[in-house]
Amino acid sequence: MFAKTTRSSTMIVSLLSFGLLFNFQSSITGTAIAEGKTSVHIVYLGEREHDNPELVTSSHHDMLASVLGSSKESAAERLVYSYRHGFSGFAAKLTESQARKLADFPGVVRVMRNSLYRIQTTRSWDFLGLSSPPVNNLLYESKMGDGIIIGVLDTGIWPESESFTDKGLGPVPSYWNGTCEPGEQFDPVKHCNRKIIGARWYVKGILAEYGRPLNSSGDTEFMSPRDAVGHGTHTASIAAGSFVRNVSYKGVAHGTARGGAPRARLAIYKVCWNVLGGQCSSVDILKAFDEAIHDGVHVMSLSIGSSIPLFSEVDDHDGIATGSFHAMARGITVVCGAANDGPSAQTVQNTAPWILTVAASTMDRDFQSLITLGNNEVYVGQALYTGKEIGFASLVYPDFCRGLTPNVTLFAGRVVLCFTSSARRAAITIAAAAVRLSGGIGLIAAKSPSDGLAPCSDDFPCVEVDYETGTSILYYFRSERSPTVKISPTLTVVNSKLPAHVAHFSSRGPNSIAPAILKPDIAAPGVNILAASSPLDPLSANGYAMHTGTSMSTPHVAGIVALLKALHLDWSPAMIKSSIITTGWKNHPTGFPIQAAGSPQKVADPFDYGGGIINPNGAAWPGLVYDMAMTDYINYLCHRGYNESDISRIVGQPTICQDKSHSILDTNLPSITIPNLASLTTVMRTVTNVGPQMSTYWALIEPPPGTTVTVCPNVLVFNATAQKITFKVTVRLILPIVESGYIFGSLKWSNGVNHVTSPLIVRVGFSHLH
Ligand SMILES: *[C@@H]1O[C@H](CO)[C@@H](O)[C@H](O)[C@H]1NC(C)=O
Ligand SMILES: *[C@@H]1O[C@H](CO)[C@@H](O)[C@H](O)[C@H]1NC(C)=O
Ligand SMILES: *[C@@H]1O[C@H](CO)[C@@H](O)[C@H](O)[C@H]1NC(C)=O
Ligand SMILES: *[C@@H]1O[C@H](CO)[C@@H](O)[C@H](O)[C@H]1NC(C)=O
Ligand SMILES: *[C@@H]1O[C@H](CO)[C@@H](O)[C@H](O)[C@H]1NC(C)=O
Ligand SMILES: *[C@@H]1O[C@H](CO)[C@@H](O)[C@H](O)[C@H]1NC(C)=O
Repeated sequence: MFAKTTRSSTMIVSLLSFGLLFNFQSSITGTAIAEGKTSVHIVYLGEREHDNPELVTSSHHDMLASVLGSSKESAAERLVYSYRHGFSGFAAKLTESQARKLADFPGVVRVMRNSLYRIQTTRSWDFLGLSSPPVNNLLYESKMGDGIIIGVLDTGIWPESESFTDKGLGPVPSYWNGTCEPGEQFDPVKHCNRKIIGARWYVKGILAEYGRPLNSSGDTEFMSPRDAVGHGTHTASIAAGSFVRNVSYKGVAHGTARGGAPRARLAIYKVCWNVLGGQCSSVDILKAFDEAIHDGVHVMSLSIGSSIPLFSEVDDHDGIATGSFHAMARGITVVCGAANDGPSAQTVQNTAPWILTVAASTMDRDFQSLITLGNNEVYVGQALYTGKEIGFASLVYPDFCRGLTPNVTLFAGRVVLCFTSSARRAAITIAAAAVRLSGGIGLIAAKSPSDGLAPCSDDFPCVEVDYETGTSILYYFRSERSPTVKISPTLTVVNSKLPAHVAHFSSRGPNSIAPAILKPDIAAPGVNILAASSPLDPLSANGYAMHTGTSMSTPHVAGIVALLKALHLDWSPAMIKSSIITTGWKNHPTGFPIQAAGSPQKVADPFDYGGGIINPNGAAWPGLVYDMAMTDYINYLCHRGYNESDISRIVGQPTICQDKSHSILDTNLPSITIPNLASLTTVMRTVTNVGPQMSTYWALIEPPPGTTVTVCPNVLVFNATAQKITFKVTVRLILPIVESGYIFGSLKWSNGVNHVTSPLIVRVGFSHLH
């Protein structure tokens, strides 16, 4: 968890990852698998072990034959393995539909696709449809972001990481005005190259705030762009890391690592420092924005946030709202994290409408450790345990994880089961240390769902399960005289049947500053992301570390923005943002809606993920966009009720409010949010044609329940590119309505090829509630 911020003359803000304290859970979805094609599946059975191996195999044949509708003989050909010792079950070649059918058989616990150790360390890019080598996708159309410069405001960079090799890159772009600044253990000649083309550091604000040398509490820090934390190295390599083969976390998540825009260049702005787990000062941030704008970056990535309560744009205490306004005014897209304060409502940060605000999702990858009980029941837990299998050992249950103290008599040589009510990992880490100190050999921790794993003190097996599984294991413990358990090392499972969800920790809307502005804007993978790190990062192994947070989802989007920018150099930040929001995924390839973790888990809505999970290939050719010019942003500030002196300060020049005929609801966003719906409310939007010259779009409306929605005109006929058409959306309340919260619908413009979808969200005004 990031440390509390202090409020004083300059603000201190912090990093949006979990540092050393992590969360956990299970995982995701991805490519649909063509029906008809078989792949190996593992079928876990709940049945007891048979003594007679022939009988076991024969029962597997029977089960297969019945699902295939074939003879026992031909079923035998599909069987790969029968298991009976480690666990009960078998492996067989099945199509997806056969696997689904089999999953419904009595006695079948779970059917999983066998896709262990696939070559996809940064699996997230395949998950997002940007796989390499060549296919016809945005990655290739954009030449992998060649020529685009991504500015990363973070904890600096570990320049020796292989992820920043400049092999195969052309010269530094001629329009680059930036520089590499020397400093402690940072030599521009040695440490900057054609990948890291700029590196600056900003320490005055934090020094003033801290009042003593940054390393005085014993933490290592470098007075230079060098990264002592690992966070900046991680985020930079997610956005634009070069290809590095054969990367893994001790064998887990093995594959090729790369960033979203592997040929984009990096400009490093070190604004966050190794004090209190990574803190950054607003004045340093503002200075970095200032220089980055002049240096010539195209995209800026900030995995930084402050704490609640949030301040308005004019009271901008973290410097991000103001700095990003200036960047936006120069055509630079600024991407920021939504923060990690979910799943509570109104926790989203970085809410200015000129910022692209990113929530975090999981993906179609899971890190599973099998827990086998003495009665041969098998449960799937989550872990990053890369050591040897823990053979059947005796199981003890001392109650809660919290308050576990070392006890050799109780724990030595045993596996401990405990429960914790906290979603945070600290209770587990402390319990694991106590068990280990007492000669214990493993920990099974039952906890409420959260997302993100961390290794438990140096390869100590520390398996996390949900309460349901924990309770089943406890039931077994109580029903046996001498309960035993086996823990297997973590397997990396990529499985399109594990659907992605919005992460538990990801901050949620509505926007507490300006409820009419939908936030977050989009979600991207941010759970268990393996990327480069500083060797000083305690979680790094061979220079790569697995981290979790909106800190990790943010550079995913920054990398994709770099690709979009390479493809459409003339697009404004609003156009890029619109293309991303209107094309987001709301369903899995299987057709099921994306869920949002929380209590309880539910179908995700725009307050969880804005336009959905980012769909880069859709965003490349959106058809229509909702653009915004400087006057639109100024009107927004005026409609917010800020006075002209405050507005002039944000805008950076004298500004007068002129627009009296519109309201904040008319801000030309790719979403419509009406936080105080009257019996009838009308808003205006303008779309710009970025698709074929001659295009006709029809409005498809899904009204929020309890309302009717009309669009006028409801057919848009374009005869030129860049042509703009304005339309009105009228929402009518159907009385009486009892709903007092927000309700969700959508407005989609479709020409049959492009589907330009805007979230449509209303809350009934109090005077209209019955
Ligand atoms: C702090 O940094 C200074 C110079 O950067 C160095 O001389 C000193 O040894 C460091 N102290 C600690 C505790 O690391
Ligand atoms: C991959 O890396 C591992 C250890 O990091 C090494 O043992 C192995 O030989 C490497 N494989 C290849 C193909 O380079
Ligand atoms: C780079 O510097 C030149 C000369 O000072 C200036 O004209 C140009 O606008 C700068 N580029 C950017 C992106 O500010
Ligand atoms: C250790 O556990 C045993 C068995 O539960 C208990 O009797 C003993 O008091 C415990 N020792 C300590 C130091 O807590
Ligand atoms: C504008 O509003 C701010 C508070 O946001 C206030 O401090 C300032 O005095 C106001 N300026 C004018 C000219 O009214
Ligand atoms: C496009 O349509 C507008 C009105 O819809 C019309 O005024 C204009 O002349 C048309 N342009 C062309 C090139 O057809």
